[in-house]
Amino acid sequence: MFAFKPSNFGVVKRAFSSSAAANAAKVAVLGAAGGIGQPLSLLLKHNKLISHLSLYDIVNTPGVAADISHINTASKVTGYVPDNDGLKLTLSDSDIIVIPAGVPRKPGMTRDDLFYTNAGIVKELAEAAAQYAPKAIMAVISNPVNSTVPIVSEVYKKHNIYDPRRIIGITTLDVVRASRFVSELKGTDPSNEKITVVGGHSGVTIIPLLSQSGHSFTDEELKTLTHRIQFGGDEVVKAKAGTGSATLSMAYAASCFVDSLLRALVKGEKGIIEPSYVKSNLFSSDNIDYFASNVELGTEGVAKVHPLGKLSAYEKELLSAALPELKKNIAKGADFVVSGK
Ligand code: NAI
Repeated sequence: MFAFKPSNFGVVKRAFSSSAAANAAKVAVLGAAGGIGQPLSLLLKHNKLISHLSLYDIVNTPGVAADISHINTASKVTGYVPDNDGLKLTLSDSDIIVIPAGVPRKPGMTRDDLFYTNAGIVKELAEAAAQYAPKAIMAVISNPVNSTVPIVSEVYKKHNIYDPRRIIGITTLDVVRASRFVSELKGTDPSNEKITVVGGHSGVTIIPLLSQSGHSFTDEELKTLTHRIQFGGDEVVKAKAGTGSATLSMAYAASCFVDSLLRALVKGEKGIIEPSYVKSNLFSSDNIDYFASNVELGTEGVAKVHPLGKLSAYEKELLSAALPELKKNIAKGADFVVSGK
């Protein structure tokens, strides 16, 4: 999953939501001129399953698009700002929309501190997506992901186009980090580690299932590793000292996720699993409607939400701490659209 090797063979025909070529997809990146958006767009330019890379930002997109468009891979690249129907032209006929638009954290901030700025941005972009690309699969990076995914869902419900399979929060960076941190401890090749991370995408809602990793850990190792995976983003925020949060590792993680989605969507590959934050019935008895777990991707986005499997006593404790926080984050996102609060 983590080696970025976009495939270039054996494409299958698929009934695309757009009129785009049936063996490659149009992918829109909203927030494409930002810290994540630029390297993500660069990595996506390498993906042979993309026919059209459609970039949008409120500033600087024409420059980013012109620069990336000189790379000698086949996909077409366009770049728009809001003027002259930019958002409409960016989104129309898209098969996948990725949103890294919004402000990142500064030292001392939690992801929830970003809520009011980013909630408005994600809502505005979801409104446009509902209008111009209602069949596209929406992949959300903007934080707080625990809340921004419910925001997109509520916007889509208002537009009567809601299909929970098509809205996905990207939590791949948690998996990338967990795999790297475990490999550092165990002296293994990180690209062979596959650590499942479930729950949500902030602090205590991030639950690494280290008991399913095939390794054994002392209690001390478990606590230290779990804390590092939950708060790994803080290491980057602190090191960047006020200039932003993870951008390069996030761009890598998102490009891996989009490649998996494209393989399912364009090539019809089966059995592609990425832990992701989606509408889920796993904890609906606790009134929690969204949860990250292993998700099988398919031609419509989410094909199957997998259960968590066997949890250790420690992981059950982590889950108990995560659920109330997640519930609050979800309600905050949904309320923002439903009651405008
Ligand atoms: P950044 O500030 O470098 O870039 C954000 C971009 O969004 C800017 O270019 C800005 O012009 C653009 N933007 C703002 N309003 C917009 C609008 N209405 N429409 C289109 N574009 C708009 O921020 P960075 O570092 O790229 O982070 C972006 C988001 O990703 C943040 O919310 C951050 O917290 C989140 N993030 C998520 C991660 C995850 O694992 N899901 C990991 C790291 C960051």
